[in-house]
Amino acid sequence: GLPARVTIWEVGPRDGLQNEKSVVPVEVKLEFLDRLAGAGLTTLEATSFVHPKWVPQLADAEQLLAGLDRREGVRYPVLVPNERGLNRALDAGVSDIAIFASATETFAQRNLNSTLDEQFAMFEPVVTRARAEGLDVRGYLSMCFGDPWEGVVAAEQVVRAGQRLLDFGCSQLSLGDTIGVATTGQVTRLIETFGKSGVDVSTLAVHFHDTYGQALANTEAALRAGVSTVDSSAGGLGGCPYAESATGNLATEDLVWLLEGLGVEHGVDLGKLVDTSVWMAERLGRPSPSRVVNALAG
Ligand code: HMG
Ligand code: MG
Repeated sequence: GLPARVTIWEVGPRDGLQNEKSVVPVEVKLEFLDRLAGAGLTTLEATSFVHPKWVPQLADAEQLLAGLDRREGVRYPVLVPNERGLNRALDAGVSDIAIFASATETFAQRNLNSTLDEQFAMFEPVVTRARAEGLDVRGYLSMCFGDPWEGVVAAEQVVRAGQRLLDFGCSQLSLGDTIGVATTGQVTRLIETFGKSGVDVSTLAVHFHDTYGQALANTEAALRAGVSTVDSSAGGLGGCPYAESATGNLATEDLVWLLEGLGVEHGVDLGKLVDTSVWMAERLGRPSPSRVVNALAG
């Protein structure tokens, strides 16, 4: 069956803007976040405390959080790769962080400058200390279905890596199709493999990029397999600078349209969200790739 309600984890301000060629001014980012909250989204992944040379688009993380008008009932998680990042996030007063590991060796090297094993050694003390400070920690796992260098990724390999992040103390595990190659059968099988390994499927979230146009179908497969948290980005912004073939995330508008049709609660005002994505597309100087934005805008 389907869940009665889905939590949308909006990643546009982070996953979307990290991949834009131009650096978006901090005032525009702040207005974007405020508009997203105004459209009813309650989890807004705001930015990353990564190395500014690796992701210059998000080098203004401190300024952004200092200027953020936090709305009641809205969470503003940020990405943190290491202890240095955690210190920065704590100084900025965050209460939710996300670490981001890779299911494959090659992407761990490309994205984190570490081996598969080294990344766990980097993340474990981050999760432990963040929890001790009272923060909530999400674990991301990238390349859960396919990897541009290693090809198809085995479900068992993904479950092993994901299990480690949950054992560290992550409250949720987001399964990333970083390059958007997954298809529905693979999604169902991966979630079932987690379930058979003793992982409570309700702790899983899904994170689809839409490179091959499968993100929406994959989302429905995940919902039917027991998942009820879905990552998406307003207007379909996004990609990943360290995975060349990746394009934008599943568009939040496309997700909302699907949920609306299925009668699943989501809490979003679609009209306000479309207006926000049209406004953002003007700031970026290129149209939104979302089919729903284009159908409803105007
Ligand atoms: P490194 O260069 O190996 O770092 O980068 P290091 O530990 O060797 O340190 C080198 C210097 O960087 C030191 O400074 C550190 O202090 C500094 P120095 O002593 O030379 O002056 N440094 C930092 N400065 C600020 N903030 C920090 C930080 N850490 C070290 N946090 C590192 C290793 C992990 C930091 C780097 O590889 C990095 O920042 N990677 C992030 C890449 C990234 O953000 N990728 C995109 C997000 S993941 C994604 O999009 C996938 C996802 O959407 C899910 C999916 O789609 O699958 C989540
Ligand atoms: Mg992503």
